[in-house]
Amino acid sequence: MRVVIQENYDKMSQWAANVIAARINGHRGKGPFVLGLPTGSSPLGVYRELIRKNKAGEVSFADVVTFNMDEYLGLPREHDQSYWRFMHENFFDHLTDMRPENVHILNGMAPDPEAECRQYEEQIAALGGIDLFLGGIGVDGHLAFNEPYTSLTSRTGVRVLTTDTRIVNSRFFGNDPEKVPAKALSVGIGTVTDAKEVLILISGHNKARALAAVVEGGVSQKWTCSALQMHNNAVIACDEDACGELTVDTYKYFLDIERGERL
Ligand code: GLP
Repeated sequence: MRVVIQENYDKMSQWAANVIAARINGHRGKGPFVLGLPTGSSPLGVYRELIRKNKAGEVSFADVVTFNMDEYLGLPREHDQSYWRFMHENFFDHLTDMRPENVHILNGMAPDPEAECRQYEEQIAALGGIDLFLGGIGVDGHLAFNEPYTSLTSRTGVRVLTTDTRIVNSRFFGNDPEKVPAKALSVGIGTVTDAKEVLILISGHNKARALAAVVEGGVSQKWTCSALQMHNNAVIACDEDACGELTVDTYKYFLDIERGERL
């Protein structure tokens, strides 16, 4: 697992957007590029930069097919906190050539949520799998809505949210954790690690404990993102603030590697 340390959130976002645009452009003429996407504040800078590049003609989304990581169970698309709405307001609606039929987001109102999740996996498989999965993590290291102690081989399914996550996400629900849906539909850790490439964004002091656990700790269900240690092509892009709990040795080691990459 590579760890790319950038000075701040904007530089981290710029770096990640450059990687994503390069992968999409490098795939031109080879069929659809399948891109996994997260919600949250972590990817907003990447989305802004990809929108800019798209409008400037530097990257086209005409052949990009997207699959979002997760959605709250029981929230309709129109709800102001649905991830469907988040993705359209912050990303898809601003792209010049994204085809609506290429956007996949789990339906929080599906009459049979388990069947919805199975179909999601089938749709991903029918396209040959995900080329690049972009993600963020929760303060407890959760990836998508795979809370601590979710199996590291889990597939898309219904997840129960922890009290901690409902408290953290209550900032979007009038600061009342009870108003945060108790469950969500989420891709599994296995769904993410099946992707050919995984790029995780980790920024800010509040993620420092999680970054240290995911990078320096062992592979553990407790920090589900740590499963990426076993992935052959996974990168964490982070900012300086998120590095606060890394040992000095680890920090210097990753800077050395990236310096070497540029030689
Ligand atoms: C939610 C989402 C995760 C996301 C996390 C962190 O719990 N289900 O996919 O990574 O929030 O969000 P943020 O980037 O706002 O810190």
